[in-house]
Amino acid sequence: MGTGGCADYVSGVEGTIRASAAGKVILLGEHSVVYGRPAIAAPLSGLRATVTLTPHPGPLHIQAPAVGIDAPLPDLPSDQPLARIILLTAEHYRFSPPRAVLRIESQIPVASGLGSGAAVSTAIVRALAAWYGVRPEPGQVSALVYEVEKIYHGTPSGIDNTVIAYEQPVYFVRGRSPEPFSPRFPLPLLIADSGVSSPTREVVGDLRRRWETDPTHYAALFDRIAAEVEAARRAIEAGDPPELGMRMNRNHELLREIGVSSPVLDRLVEAARRAGALGAKLSGAGWGGNVIALVDPLAAEEIERALREAGARNVWRTDVGTGVSKTGRVADHG
Ligand code: PMV
Repeated sequence: MGTGGCADYVSGVEGTIRASAAGKVILLGEHSVVYGRPAIAAPLSGLRATVTLTPHPGPLHIQAPAVGIDAPLPDLPSDQPLARIILLTAEHYRFSPPRAVLRIESQIPVASGLGSGAAVSTAIVRALAAWYGVRPEPGQVSALVYEVEKIYHGTPSGIDNTVIAYEQPVYFVRGRSPEPFSPRFPLPLLIADSGVSSPTREVVGDLRRRWETDPTHYAALFDRIAAEVEAARRAIEAGDPPELGMRMNRNHELLREIGVSSPVLDRLVEAARRAGALGAKLSGAGWGGNVIALVDPLAAEEIERALREAGARNVWRTDVGTGVSKTGRVADHG
């Protein structure tokens, strides 16, 4: 895994610091990753959360218009996720929160499985570190963000904070060092937002309760998902899009079996497949959130239309490139 600092994501002009972080998409292996099986995820480098720190007298003031927050840090409860990442970062680097306004803006839709919470936290760590002249390693950023992911998710696998902090496509197994994967071909993906919010904590908690009542049944399903993830990784490395698409389809069927899909998601998956997608599946926690479709670029427009007709609120297009995916383009066609 690359160990470079975060300088690329940070800029400073006349005392103002600006830092950003990408959204992410899980390609395969969500949920089973919580139970120690592998998953594959990639950053969405064109869809970002941005944090600006502007010098200001008085205590750090937080502005997050998207969630209606406009308050000094001391007024926020210390377990509020934004307060928590600020306080954790300050404690980690042994400084006091700066005298500044910290403004958060994000292009990443909230609660839709695209990593908006982890991206905001990552951008905050990068901005605060830059304010104090520190260049944190991605592993450090990831570890701090993981602490806050626990507030959002309960028992997070750590895949979101990892892929976002490193901003590279990764093959991820909980508790092991993340491995970057190198596609032999760009992966042209459509990401369709169902418009239904995806409560990760609830979906993960609901699955855990069902797993507790029948661990053997669920372990077998998680093992079958793991086999699809391994096969998908080989297809990505070998440059075999139809094989990858098939593995995505099978992963979706297994996600249905573990009870995290929904009629809306199944309808979007079906629409993408019928319009010619090589593979389609839900991505992230499920119940709502997003569906991803692997497409032939020539068929992308038609598949996008089919997704919209099937009810997608928004469709993004991205190419998960080879190696570092900073070239990844996410265009909002909405
Ligand atoms: O943050 P989301 O909605 O993309 O979902 C996280 C993926 C899960 O595997 C469901 C949970 C986890 O912690 O890995």
